[in-house]
Amino acid sequence: MKGLIIYFSHAGENYMRDGIKNITKGNTEIVAEKLQNLTNANIFKVESIKEYPYNYQECCDVAKEELNKKERPELKKYLKDIDNYDVIYIGSPIWWGTMPMPLFSALEKLNWQGKIVKPFTTHEGSGLGNVMSDLTKVCPGAEINNGLAIRGSDAEESEEMLKSWI
Ligand SMILES: Cc1cc2nc3c(=O)[nH]c(=O)nc-3n(C[C@H](O)[C@H](O)[C@H](O)COP(=O)(O)O)c2cc1C
Repeated sequence: MKGLIIYFSHAGENYMRDGIKNITKGNTEIVAEKLQNLTNANIFKVESIKEYPYNYQECCDVAKEELNKKERPELKKYLKDIDNYDVIYIGSPIWWGTMPMPLFSALEKLNWQGKIVKPFTTHEGSGLGNVMSDLTKVCPGAEINNGLAIRGSDAEESEEMLKSWI
């Protein structure tokens, strides 16, 4: 049975090892696409209807407010179900210690009973943050496997890490 990769990623200004940089493709997207090449899984990008600011500081402010308010932003599209998949990879940047709220919007709608979840994050120091514990709440009934945390600045060089994690 095929796997499925569900991920969120934000291009624009981002905080990288050597300061604030403009990235045209998000770090998590870079990793998700490498993972797709390695696993041949299907892939689903979670996108909020309301775009996040290009500016890093503004994006941080919006994200913090959404987190504090426990918002569930409307998405451009939703997965109908995940019935055809056993293994679901969930890819997320760390925003204020956990996943961006749109991922919560996407994941909470699905039936996780009997699924295997393999979480991966990109981050600039927080590792997996609270993602593992948040996923146990958001994906009830799933078996949550070991997560993989990749430094966002290392996304382009993540293939070997992915290979040994898969
Ligand atoms: C709104 C916002 C909040 C962030 N919060 C954290 C954080 O709490 N911990 C951390 O290590 N990195 C944090 N970062 C850095 C991102 O997790 C990191 O750059 C990641 O690779 C971005 O992935 P993306 O390009 O796929 O969106 C934050 C970045 C943004 C834009």
